[in-house]
Amino acid sequence: MCVEGRNLTWTPMLLFLSSALCSQWEVNYHQQHICAVKDSSVVIPCSFYYPDNQRVQSTAWGHEKYDIFNGPFNFDSELNETKKRFQYIGDTNHNCSLKINQVEHNDTGKHTFRFTTNDKEGKWTGKDGSTLKVVDLSISVTKPNGNRTIKEGDSVNLTCRNGCDGDNLLSAFTWFKNGEPITEGPTLYLSNMSSTNSGNYTCSLKRHTAASSGVIHIDVEYSPKNTSVSVRPSMEADAGSNITLTCSSRANPPVENYTWVKIDDGDIMDVGKGPVFFPGDGGQYLCSASNKHGSQNSSVVTIKMKQDWTFTKDVLIIAILAAVSVLLIVTIVFAVRRLNRKRTRAPERSEECEEDIQNSVYANYPVFDNNQSQERIGCEEQTLELIYTTVDFHTERKMEQQVASHNDDEGVVYSTVCRKLLNPTYVETP
Ligand SMILES: *[C@@H]1O[C@H](CO)[C@@H](O)[C@H](O)[C@H]1NC(C)=O
Ligand SMILES: *[C@@H]1O[C@H](CO)[C@@H](O)[C@H](O)[C@H]1NC(C)=O
Ligand SMILES: *[C@@H]1O[C@H](CO)[C@@H](O)[C@H](O)[C@H]1NC(C)=O
Ligand SMILES: *[C@@H]1O[C@H](CO)[C@@H](O)[C@H](O)[C@H]1NC(C)=O
Ligand SMILES: *[C@@H]1O[C@H](CO)[C@@H](O)[C@H](O)[C@H]1NC(C)=O
Repeated sequence: MCVEGRNLTWTPMLLFLSSALCSQWEVNYHQQHICAVKDSSVVIPCSFYYPDNQRVQSTAWGHEKYDIFNGPFNFDSELNETKKRFQYIGDTNHNCSLKINQVEHNDTGKHTFRFTTNDKEGKWTGKDGSTLKVVDLSISVTKPNGNRTIKEGDSVNLTCRNGCDGDNLLSAFTWFKNGEPITEGPTLYLSNMSSTNSGNYTCSLKRHTAASSGVIHIDVEYSPKNTSVSVRPSMEADAGSNITLTCSSRANPPVENYTWVKIDDGDIMDVGKGPVFFPGDGGQYLCSASNKHGSQNSSVVTIKMKQDWTFTKDVLIIAILAAVSVLLIVTIVFAVRRLNRKRTRAPERSEECEEDIQNSVYANYPVFDNNQSQERIGCEEQTLELIYTTVDFHTERKMEQQVASHNDDEGVVYSTVCRKLLNPTYVETP
């Protein structure tokens, strides 16, 4: 008879008897402590022994968090449905190994094997069990200067750690970039990095690629690249139609400043900011893109305006000059003509006046007999003066006539002498 140790309330005498009888009952765990990476699979190697004359009827694997004698069990040969992750890879002789697939953190702890034989009392649980430790894979990053950011040209080492220190079985790793395997080994050396090294890195156990580390995102920063200008609708357009220049550039972090430069006979002028620019006139332009790591120039684009704004300006200036010249010429001509007219008119006037005087000689001024000759002379003098003082005031003339017709005032006489043409009031000869 053999009884499991759990009911030991025996006397020393019985104990001695029991150990003699039960020496053949045994579960042997080959590894007391097993470390496994989460999501990997692990084998708990195991052997068991029982009297030769008995046959094994059932096998089961339990966990310390349950009742290791009565279950429930993670694996139980008596039950059709047990957890699929627990796979009994032993047999019904002496091999009781268990494989656990897709190990979970929940599986941490002591796993024990129990079996029964065809003997009525033939039940045994190996209480010692195998203790499982479940760990995650992690990546440690070694940066050259301890910088937080990684720049183009930097070198970085990534080391995969499994947390199962000293476990050689777990030291074969595979490295992945964006899900694609790239290399094997515990450490990934990335040197003279460029943007192509940016990506999501993971490591896994070589034999269990499902057992993966967390993701390390590598972001290689760099100054602007492939800076170029696109022109719409075309490099050559009618003045007035809008030409749009767009600057594009790859940079990490993204471009912070776009500067537009116009090159004019070797002169460099900043003409705009921002990724889009509308050139007002033709010429040579380039854009400069910059971020905190540096800047890059695009190549030069030459914009042609078919009817240049500068050309229009010239035309405008010429037109204004022409207009001013024409105006000047017209003014001069007019002035000259006016002057000429005045010169030709003067003698006319005097003639006219003389005629008037001739008429008036007979017509007027009977009052001043003694001064008549003087009057004539005065008239001629006065006439010359009048030419320059009064030009075409016909109404005044009439008025003067009226005044003269009945007035004998001297002043009036002088001013109207030459004008008196019509309606003589007196017809008399001296
Ligand atoms: C038990 O069986 C497994 C699977 O067949 C095998 O890998 C293991 O070596 C065996 N263990 C012993 C102790 O025979
Ligand atoms: C780093 O890479 C760049 C191009 O990616 C290359 O021009 C340069 O020579 C490399 N430097 C070193 C030290 O290998
Ligand atoms: C890297 O992972 C982040 C999220 O973790 C995702 O947004 C990004 O698209 C991934 N990059 C690549 C290149 O797969
Ligand atoms: C970007 O520039 C690099 C050289 O700096 C060149 O090799 C690459 O072809 C360019 N890429 C594009 C999309 O123009
Ligand atoms: C970009 O062009 C401007 C103007 O020609 C020049 O002054 C500057 O040095 C250039 N920058 C780079 C990075 O080539």
